[in-house]
Amino acid sequence: MTPALLGNLGVSLALAFSLLGLALSLLAYHQGDGRFLKGAKALVLPAFLAALTAFLALEWALLTHDFSLAYVARNHSTQDPLWVTLVTPWAALEGSILLWGLLQTLYTLLASRKPLDPWRAALVLAVLFGVQVFFFGVMATIASPFETLPNPPADGTGPNPLLQNHWMMAVHPVLMYLGFVGLSVPFAYAVAAMVVRRYQTWVGETRWWTLIAWGFLTAGKVAGMWWSYEVLGWGGYWAWDPVENASFIPWLLSTAFLHTAIVQETRGAFKAWNFAFVTLAFAATVLGTFLTRSGIIQSVHAFAEGPVGPAFLGFFLLVTGLGLGLLSRVSREVRDTAVFRLLSREGALLLGAFFFAGWALVVVLGTFYPLLAEAFTGVKVSVGAPFFNQASVPIGVGILLLMGVGPLLPWRRPRAEVFRNLYMLLAVLFLGTLLGLLRGYAFGASLAVGLFLYNTAAILLLVREGVLARLRAGLSPWGFLENRRRVGSLLVHFAVALMGLGIAFSQTYRLESEKTLYRGQAWEVGGVRMEFLGVRALDEGRRFAVEASLRTDRFGEVRPRLHFYPQMNSPLPAPKVVYTPGNDYYFLLMDFDREKGEWASVRLIVTPLVFWMWVAGGLLALGTLYILWPAAGREEVKGVSPA
Ligand code: HEM
Repeated sequence: MTPALLGNLGVSLALAFSLLGLALSLLAYHQGDGRFLKGAKALVLPAFLAALTAFLALEWALLTHDFSLAYVARNHSTQDPLWVTLVTPWAALEGSILLWGLLQTLYTLLASRKPLDPWRAALVLAVLFGVQVFFFGVMATIASPFETLPNPPADGTGPNPLLQNHWMMAVHPVLMYLGFVGLSVPFAYAVAAMVVRRYQTWVGETRWWTLIAWGFLTAGKVAGMWWSYEVLGWGGYWAWDPVENASFIPWLLSTAFLHTAIVQETRGAFKAWNFAFVTLAFAATVLGTFLTRSGIIQSVHAFAEGPVGPAFLGFFLLVTGLGLGLLSRVSREVRDTAVFRLLSREGALLLGAFFFAGWALVVVLGTFYPLLAEAFTGVKVSVGAPFFNQASVPIGVGILLLMGVGPLLPWRRPRAEVFRNLYMLLAVLFLGTLLGLLRGYAFGASLAVGLFLYNTAAILLLVREGVLARLRAGLSPWGFLENRRRVGSLLVHFAVALMGLGIAFSQTYRLESEKTLYRGQAWEVGGVRMEFLGVRALDEGRRFAVEASLRTDRFGEVRPRLHFYPQMNSPLPAPKVVYTPGNDYYFLLMDFDREKGEWASVRLIVTPLVFWMWVAGGLLALGTLYILWPAAGREEVKGVSPA
């Protein structure tokens, strides 16, 4: 047995089980026969095991340097450290599709355990098996991770050095895929709900899945931002790059869905919006993969050359067509008849969802316009960061404004005390902005201070209301913490406000300076004094590193590096970042004296409040975990929670 044989067997079996599962689920629905459903369910575990076998076969091939596999020859070298070898399955297209397929079978396995009426269970399984058929079908035909080479090389080139330069690459793609795949479950439930015309319960039944998927997407995005900050050497974390945009779009749409789902769960409204948002969010994950994996970003012509791009585009159209087609069929039945007030919780939630969806539209337009323009006119145009920033700032401000007030508004209509709270919050916003201006900050940064304080005040008001209501009812105030959605979402909202502050300051204020220093020469910049001690070269096997030593007065000795990989013409920077709550100090080695090591060009980038963005990332994860954590015992007292 060889890894190629085992891998191909795994992929073929996973495809066969998924196809059979799809057929049996559809039969179960059409015939109303429980035996077919049982048969379909029985195939879920074998499909997962087959996918796992294929995945382990790829790991086996990598660990044993089996260069007869084209994937291993292209993405692995004998010099790779163990951790890089272990994460190489998701370093390129075919392996990533295998990981996606494996995670999909895992989610199908978990989702199939949930009790559900047989009609919907059959349809949910049909959709999930259908997704599996696509992925394993792609692997079995046009993007096989187990394609063999007639003349295997003695060694390979290793994965893209950018991926080897930071351990974050081990986790970021997995988090993203866990999020992408997770959205398939609420999508499958939505399809089932529309087919059987039972529109209400699916949002509650899939809330856990939505939150899990959203939580992974959020964690994946923050991890990606941090990776870009630590590895790319430009001292930023977001560049509106198409690859970043590709995963931002499903994140925005799933955030919209997360919020409109709350309204359906609580008030039975926004059914149509929920069907639309969950379809678009899942479809956007496929679109994102199409965008990043079809080669279309490098050139629209690359898309036409390989079959993977058209396959993903076709699948995207299929998913969108299925969800929106069904929605148009049932649109009369799911239409909202009630009128909503803007100044109500549902009003704020819907308006917020429009902001998220509008933002997604802006990102789609900005990302696809250059591709379409090139395809139709042959002229390369680019939509740069200024376009995205200009459109995003007002949307971001709108979201931060709504986020503070939304949870404070009662359902249906505002009460008198709500207006008191609103005036108070507006006063905080105004005073906070004024405070920023008085301290000499730019208007944008001052507004961010105002918005941060406004959101913090809103959160304190909510906590106060919740605690007071319990005290009035003679209950322990700590019981407030048991309202997991309320407390967790307050933590998440606080994290968003903190991130807004970090983004505003780090984008507005940034000091960047570069100097060539001779050995023993000192340089004072950005409040740091440094002395260049020299450079040293290190042969690390798979790469060659050059390290500059700088003695600083505040952070001791710092050693930024340049990494030279044999497969790259220019070196990759390995900055040394000193994180502090006020400023980040980002030391970069730009160039050095290759003969005697007597001089080095050093760049220092000082950016404020970036540290808090990573703290906010941690709080986002913590808040989501808090919501998801199973409640110990329920103490339901009517009228006590302000919710
Ligand atoms: C929950 C409003 C923005 C993440 C909630 C809740 C409301 C709300 C009313 C329910 C709270 C409760 O039941 O106690 C809004 C509004 C926003 C906004 C009006 C602005 C447009 C955001 C943003 C994020 C976010 C930007 C994250 C990046 C969450 C999460 C939950 C939540 C994770 C919990 C959902 C659940 O448990 O199902 N939001 N929010 N929200 N919000 Fe927001």
